[in-house]
Amino acid sequence: MTFDVQAARAEFPILSRQVNGKPLIYLDNGASAQKPRAVIGAMSALMEGSYANVHRGLHTLANETTDAYERARESVRRFINAGSADEVIFTKGATEAINLVASSFGSTLQAGDEIVLSVMEHHANIVPWHFLRERHGVVLKFIPVTDEGELDMAAYQALLGPKTKMVAVSHMSNVLGTLNPVRAIVDEAHAVGAAVLIDGAQAIVHGIVDVAELDVDFYAFSGHKLYGPTGIGVLYGKAERLAAMRPYQGGGEMIGTVALDNITYADPPHRFEAGTPAIVEAVGLGAAIEWLETLDRPAVLAHEHALLARVEERLDGANWLSKIGTAPGKGAIFSFNVEGAHAHDIAQILDRYGVAVRAGTHCAEPLLKRFGVTSSARASFALYNTLEEADAFVDALTKARTFFA
Ligand SMILES: Cc1ncc(COP(=O)(O)O)c(C=O)c1O
Repeated sequence: MTFDVQAARAEFPILSRQVNGKPLIYLDNGASAQKPRAVIGAMSALMEGSYANVHRGLHTLANETTDAYERARESVRRFINAGSADEVIFTKGATEAINLVASSFGSTLQAGDEIVLSVMEHHANIVPWHFLRERHGVVLKFIPVTDEGELDMAAYQALLGPKTKMVAVSHMSNVLGTLNPVRAIVDEAHAVGAAVLIDGAQAIVHGIVDVAELDVDFYAFSGHKLYGPTGIGVLYGKAERLAAMRPYQGGGEMIGTVALDNITYADPPHRFEAGTPAIVEAVGLGAAIEWLETLDRPAVLAHEHALLARVEERLDGANWLSKIGTAPGKGAIFSFNVEGAHAHDIAQILDRYGVAVRAGTHCAEPLLKRFGVTSSARASFALYNTLEEADAFVDALTKARTFFA
C-alpha cells in the first residue's frame, strides 16, 4: 500500500472551500484537524438511525447505541494496542484525561512527594499538577529542554529519586514537534517506582502508538486532533493502576450501589465515566480511527515528514526567520518567528492568502520563555496537506515578510 493524498483529501468536504478568495490551505492541524466524511456520516447515522442513552437500556435503540459506543472503545483499544477495552476511558479530551489522573491518582500523594514534568509541556500537562502543589504540597520538578528542543535526558535521570511518584511528559511537543523517547523515560521512572503519564495529544496523530510496547501507565489524547469530533478524548490506564484509583466525578454509571449511608463503585472504565457520556462523539472518534486504519499509516507519516522537509528546505538560510524546534526526526510542526514582525500579524497576513496558521503562546508559556520569545507562529501539517500547499505557504510567508522588511 501507499498513500494517495488526493484520494484522502476528497474525503474532507471542507478542503474544497475558499478563504478570502483563495483555496483554503489549512495548516492549523495541531490545534484541531478537519473531519472526513466517515466521521460526519457515522455521527449523523447514529443520530438519525438508532440514538438513545447508553447502558442499562432494555429497548432496541438503547442496545444498538450501547453497542456502537462500546465498539468505539474497542476501536481505540486496537489503535493503541491496549490489552483490554476496560483500560480505555472516554473523557472530554486530553485535558480532562490528565486532570482525571492528577485528581484521582494525585489524591493519594503527600506533601514532599515529587512529580517530574518537562519544560516543553502544554499547559494541560502543567496546571493540573500545580493544583497538587497548591493543595497537597507536592513538589514539581521540570526536565530542561536543549537548544534543539530535546529533553535533557541526563538532567532527567538526576531529577528522579525515591520521592518521585509520577513522571508526566508529552510524547510530542505541540510547539517543537520533538518526539520524546518515551520508552527510555518510562524505564527510568519505573526503576524508581514512579508511574508515567504520557500526553499523546500530538503523537497519536503523527506516530504509531503502542501502549504495551511503551509500557506507559497512562496515555492521554483528544479525538479532535485525530480527525474525530470535539468533546471526546481518551485516557488509557493500565488495569492495575485504574483498579487502585478512586473515581474522578460522582453520578450515574460510575457506581455499584448507592444507599443513604454508603456507596460502592463500578469497575473501570465505567468508574471514571460519570453521567451520560459523549456518545455520538465517541462513535465519531471510533469512525475516525477505523478510517485511519484503512490507510497505510507508515506511508502517511512519511508524507507528513516530506511536507515538513519541503518547508525546511525552501526556507533554509532565510536570515529573517528564526525556527523553534530543530530536533532530528521531529514531527510535522513548524514553529517560527519573522524578524521585526509579531506572530499575530504574520498569521493575519497569511490568512489573506487563504493560509491558516496559529500564532500565540500555544498554551506552552514556560517553553516559549525557555526560547526567549513571548509568541510564535506555527504551521502544523495533516495527512491531507500537499507539497503544493507547503510551497504556497512558503510563498505566502515570503511575501508577508516583505511587509516588515
Ligand atoms: C501536547 C498537547 N497536550 C494537550 C493538549 C490539550 O488538548 P485538548 O485541548 O484537546 O484537551 C494539546 C492541545 O493543543 C496539546 O497539543
